[in-house]
Amino acid sequence: MVLITSDGKGDKMDWRTIYADKICTPEEAVGHIKSGDRVVVAHACGEPTVLTDAMVACAEKYGFKDVEIVHMVAMGKAGYCAPEMSEHFRHNALFLGGSTKAAIAEGRGDFTPVFFSEVPDLLRNKLHPNVALLQVSEPDEHGYCSYGISCDYTKPAAEAADIRIAQINPKMPRVLGDNFIHIDDLDVIVEAATDLIQLAPPKIGDVQKKIGENIASLVNDGDCLQLGIGAIPDAVLLFLKEKKDLGIHSEMFSDGVVELIDAGVITNKCKQIDNGKCVATFLMGTDRLYDYANDNPAVELKPVDIVNDPYVIRQNDNVVSINSCVEVDLMGQVCSESVGLQQISGVGGQVDFVRGANMSKGGRTIMAMPSTAAKGTISKIVPFLTHGAAVTTSRCDVGYVVTEHGIAQLKGNTLKERARQLIAIADPSFRDGLIEEFESRFHCAYEA
Ligand code: COA
Repeated sequence: MVLITSDGKGDKMDWRTIYADKICTPEEAVGHIKSGDRVVVAHACGEPTVLTDAMVACAEKYGFKDVEIVHMVAMGKAGYCAPEMSEHFRHNALFLGGSTKAAIAEGRGDFTPVFFSEVPDLLRNKLHPNVALLQVSEPDEHGYCSYGISCDYTKPAAEAADIRIAQINPKMPRVLGDNFIHIDDLDVIVEAATDLIQLAPPKIGDVQKKIGENIASLVNDGDCLQLGIGAIPDAVLLFLKEKKDLGIHSEMFSDGVVELIDAGVITNKCKQIDNGKCVATFLMGTDRLYDYANDNPAVELKPVDIVNDPYVIRQNDNVVSINSCVEVDLMGQVCSESVGLQQISGVGGQVDFVRGANMSKGGRTIMAMPSTAAKGTISKIVPFLTHGAAVTTSRCDVGYVVTEHGIAQLKGNTLKERARQLIAIADPSFRDGLIEEFESRFHCAYEA
């Protein structure tokens, strides 16, 4: 904002004055949403819960109708998905999770398939946000707030939106990188010191430990890692304690990475870009992680169209992508997001990192999963993907498939050799059925 002074020259108004003018209550803030608007909610643990709660609580009061809520990993209550809210809100999910799955399965919401790296472009064009609901740190002395633990599509959404409503939370860490917005650029401010959403470290069982150990055997000193979400990536970290000078260029990371930084295993010394820094697009964990990231020059968050761009990822050598999946067929086609037609998650950054790792000099891609699901009653290695399943990662892209029973190397191998190796890492109780399929498909006897 520029004031015209008596000498006719422009003089910038102090940001503190502007700040004070923009403050209101959560209820007043969500009153800026109009029926028919598209509202984009800040991602994952960066969700401004004070604003999303107020939006749902005020739906009747403001008479909201057909407000489209665009969100990716929803770690909060997702009250806008409740059946009684269906007149007011319709969820357009870019990824599904525990709190949003039912709304899509029951037809009260929709799923839009998209690579995470392309979400900013989607928001700039096809899914233009009328309103962005944000959560940011307190401003620094220059008036800049950090998007904290969620930069990803949150920053691009804010930049594209007509109206930016922000919860300013003193508990939000000031995470460095391309991760700031100036008070001038916020339209409405709500001050609220709520606890950030936390993701507790997952329980790691014996199967996950064995998978982690197998994956760790494919990781070399100096590699640059991408770790997906969940028990398997965390289990890998347990077996990396003897490695040296690992790097992190990952869509996200969690508390387990901090442990390896403290142990001197992750140094980021061998990275060709962002040397010495852990780079990600969002963080999900506990206060231990959030405190570590606060004002720490060794951690940078950048928008997802930069961090997940395969052409950026490839600039580091020896990138190893480690992701999980729902099922793999005998050709190596991977479904990571649905059980048949039933969508259970999304593509996320899996394909972005698989592509980037494949293009990186010395890069490798690892798809890891337990060999069975549903308490051992379903094999995750199957002759054919379940009817209706999405092919998330193509058979040409997969380097290794890892289960608790071993490692199958797919890249460069024939269909027959892939199938042979995949059968060898399937649960023993399902191998006979897979061998029958092998012998009829390849017209030859199976040899282990
Ligand atoms: N058939 C039937 N059900 C299956 C199944 C199969 N082959 N595989 C898994 N399931 C079920 C599980 O039983 C579980 O059901 P429940 O919720 O009723 O317990 C559910 O699907 C989730 O499986 P689980 O093994 O607990 O998932 P996870 O937390 O380890 O996550 C993915 C695995 C694949 C869903 C997850 O990694 C994902 O979403 N990946 C895609 C995105 C991605 O890779 N992003 C990476 C960048 S961060």
